[in-house]
Amino acid sequence: MIHAIHSQATGYQEQRFFNLQGLDGISPPQIGEHLALYAGYVRQVNVLNDQLAALRAQGRASGRDAEFAELTRRLGFEYNGMILHEYYFSSLRAGSDPRPPSGSPIALALAEAYGSVEAWQTDFRAIGGMRGVGWVLLCQDPSTGRLTNHWITLHQDGVPAGFKPLLVMDVWEHAFMRDYAATERGRYIDAFFRNVAWPAMDRRLREPCAVRPASAA
Ligand SMILES: [Fe+2]
Repeated sequence: MIHAIHSQATGYQEQRFFNLQGLDGISPPQIGEHLALYAGYVRQVNVLNDQLAALRAQGRASGRDAEFAELTRRLGFEYNGMILHEYYFSSLRAGSDPRPPSGSPIALALAEAYGSVEAWQTDFRAIGGMRGVGWVLLCQDPSTGRLTNHWITLHQDGVPAGFKPLLVMDVWEHAFMRDYAATERGRYIDAFFRNVAWPAMDRRLREPCAVRPASAA
């Protein structure tokens, strides 16, 4: 039985998202290629866990074992590459407005944290324009309820441990370069905000801790 639990824990399944049709300014080919990249992260998480299990079985769980150490270092990149993409895809839906509905829980929480929804969005967009590849996260600290924006370099550097992601925006070039030029990240960010699933933000606010997106939000 222990073996069965172990297998279940390490065998992640690629999630299906049914909320990505008809997005404004993010095309089906763009989404399709991005989903294929996401699937690669799911596979790599499973491969890494299997490889590390094999090394442990060989008695090679040692910080001085170069292969064990390197594979362990990759865990943060691959796991966050999988999980952040699931938050990203579940943050999107067609037919949205660039700002949350006035008086909605997320609008009120953003105004409390940043003074206004507009001020929060200015901050979030500014972070999205930072040089380098990475992510912008709006998170809530479960212990204080406070909302804060964060820049994540690659997939793993800058994630505040234990914080609850509310809105996740991918600003790696692969997220937009089928639809936009490399110099047009701002246009992609404009499009992102025309497709934000604000009700999902309201639901995440109600949840006491981070709940991994399973599919359409
Ligand atoms: Fe991505």
